[in-house]
Amino acid sequence: MKYYLTTPIYYVNAAPHLGTAYSTFVADLIKRFKKMEGYDPVMLTTGSDEHSLKVERAAQAAGVNPLAYTTKMAAEFISQWAKLGIDYDHFIRTSDPKHHETVHWLFERCEKNGYIYKGSYTGAYCVSEEAYVNDVKPGEPCPTCGNPTETLTEENYFFKLSVFQQRLLELYEKHPEFVKPDHRRNEMIAFVQQGLNDLSITRTNIQWGIRAPVEGHHVFYVWFDALISYMSAVKDQDMWPADLHLIGKDILRFHAVYWPAFLMAADVPLPKQVFAHGWILHEDNKMSKSRGNVVRPGPIVDVVGADALRYFLLREITFGQDGSFSYDALIQRYNADLANGLGNLASRTLTMIHQYRKGIVPDSPGSPDIAEAARRTTETAMDAFCDFNFSRGLETLWSFISVIDKFIVERAPWKLAKDTGDYARQQLDEILYTAAEALRILCAWTYPVMPNAARNIWIQLGMAKPIESVTFADLHWGKLPAGQKIGSIAAVFPRLDASAIAKMETLEVQEKARQAELFGAPKAAAAPLSAEAKIAIDDFTKVDLRVGQVVSAERVKGADKLLHMKIDIGEAEPRTIVAGIAESYAPDQMLGRKVVIVANLQPRKLRGIESNGMIVAASVEGGKPVLAGFLEDIPIGARLK
Ligand code: MSP
Repeated sequence: MKYYLTTPIYYVNAAPHLGTAYSTFVADLIKRFKKMEGYDPVMLTTGSDEHSLKVERAAQAAGVNPLAYTTKMAAEFISQWAKLGIDYDHFIRTSDPKHHETVHWLFERCEKNGYIYKGSYTGAYCVSEEAYVNDVKPGEPCPTCGNPTETLTEENYFFKLSVFQQRLLELYEKHPEFVKPDHRRNEMIAFVQQGLNDLSITRTNIQWGIRAPVEGHHVFYVWFDALISYMSAVKDQDMWPADLHLIGKDILRFHAVYWPAFLMAADVPLPKQVFAHGWILHEDNKMSKSRGNVVRPGPIVDVVGADALRYFLLREITFGQDGSFSYDALIQRYNADLANGLGNLASRTLTMIHQYRKGIVPDSPGSPDIAEAARRTTETAMDAFCDFNFSRGLETLWSFISVIDKFIVERAPWKLAKDTGDYARQQLDEILYTAAEALRILCAWTYPVMPNAARNIWIQLGMAKPIESVTFADLHWGKLPAGQKIGSIAAVFPRLDASAIAKMETLEVQEKARQAELFGAPKAAAAPLSAEAKIAIDDFTKVDLRVGQVVSAERVKGADKLLHMKIDIGEAEPRTIVAGIAESYAPDQMLGRKVVIVANLQPRKLRGIESNGMIVAASVEGGKPVLAGFLEDIPIGARLK
């Protein structure tokens, strides 16, 4: 059965920050979770909301045309989502012609069904929110964002929203799951019960937008255009209706009132659910560009990894409610739950199997009590995740980690290991199997939240099936094959101290400057190349550049800058490559990552390890290397030409 979910499409006049990243990686989590539940295909789309007066003005201020501006900004979102490891299927830009076609199509259906008319409207308009504001005099601040409103009088095309009051109330009544959480649904019911005004859906004062197929210069109101992107993103793919629109609470009215009304008017099936999450707060306020209190995800990912950031936000904040971010709280959680919790359980379990059983998973049914605890944990976590109550789900899983820790301490395997008798041997087998099987189950459960770390532990456990294709049906107790050889062991979550905070703060300043420059003055042109520096095409084709995927990565002892990796480039065996990227990339960030390899370099020895190839990265003078990568998927072994 298919499952189609969406993130909101992001305004491109602000760079991605933790608040916008939040919607995106929860969507990524749900995609992975739904796949594990057995839905197939599962599709996730995201994108950029590129039209509007706001964007037109931002482009003007930057001295470029709107399309050039939005192209640059959309690329910034794409690269940030790649950095966060977001597994989306399609990035829809509202400037894409296929989206324009869908908007026209939907508008014409609404018009044909009699829900569009021409009228005139004067009101206070908030450019920041892209909406008329009721009960406010022009010039007064917008009650939502505090920015001053402007007077706008327009002859517009209107959508007959007022006639949908009853049908919308029926929708909320018959399908209580349509708006979640429940208290948000109640807000929508109260809003609709007050009566609905018709909605002006075209503008005449804007150039940068989708032209309406009517006489004169009319451009669609940005929200009419934006919502339809959810259909454009899956055009001709048999995915509509969406199963879930994941959004923040500030844009619920557009999704739970306007959007179903547009679709009803056009006789198009409605999405199944709209879930409105809360806000990430920083320094007690909603994190947002206009408040100037944003924290960017990139620097955090560079220091603690995307997994730790995802875990923190999902464990710390009840999904649906507001919650605060701080570097301090992040590091505290990281050390308590990841370094001491899951990371410690993984390393102690794998080390014991390595030491006491030569790295082979022993044959034992495991402890029946722990098997039962695992079953109960799975049941509770399943209920919580299905309800999108991720913090409760994670709490349940972490309680299970404590149960296993306690079990290991009470059964003292280190004492049994000294006893060569049959009974002690069988007891030790039971303890080791139990811990490893519990670790396998926990690992698969944490995969949707922390894909890289879970994949890393999974590989260390020696599991043959890739974690990406594991389903909940694979998680019954006892499915860990006895006799399996575990892989090489490496710490997944090394402990962090206060210097990690200082690092994130320093990187944040640099990232802020980089993003500011992205829209500010263009950089001085690079010095022109001299004729001698140019090479013939034949020289270039001598370099064999290949797409590779990192299958293992570890630090090289005594060399701060080096990572020792095995990289699959489609040959019989993965290549060994040693690269000077360890200061920018942690080993677990590299696992599964696609990279560009110079494949025909002569081998050379680094710290005694023979390196067979070079990994391609860019850097500026004094800066750290940034790996070359791809925005679209590309098979391993493909050649760069
Ligand atoms: N372009 C519209 C959405 C159109 S969808 C058809 C938009 N864009 S936005 O960039 O301003 O916001 C995108 C999403 O990010 C919204 O769901 C919003 O709630 C979310 N967040 C922005 N700041 C946020 C926080 N500080 N915390 C959590 N989510 C926040 O609205």
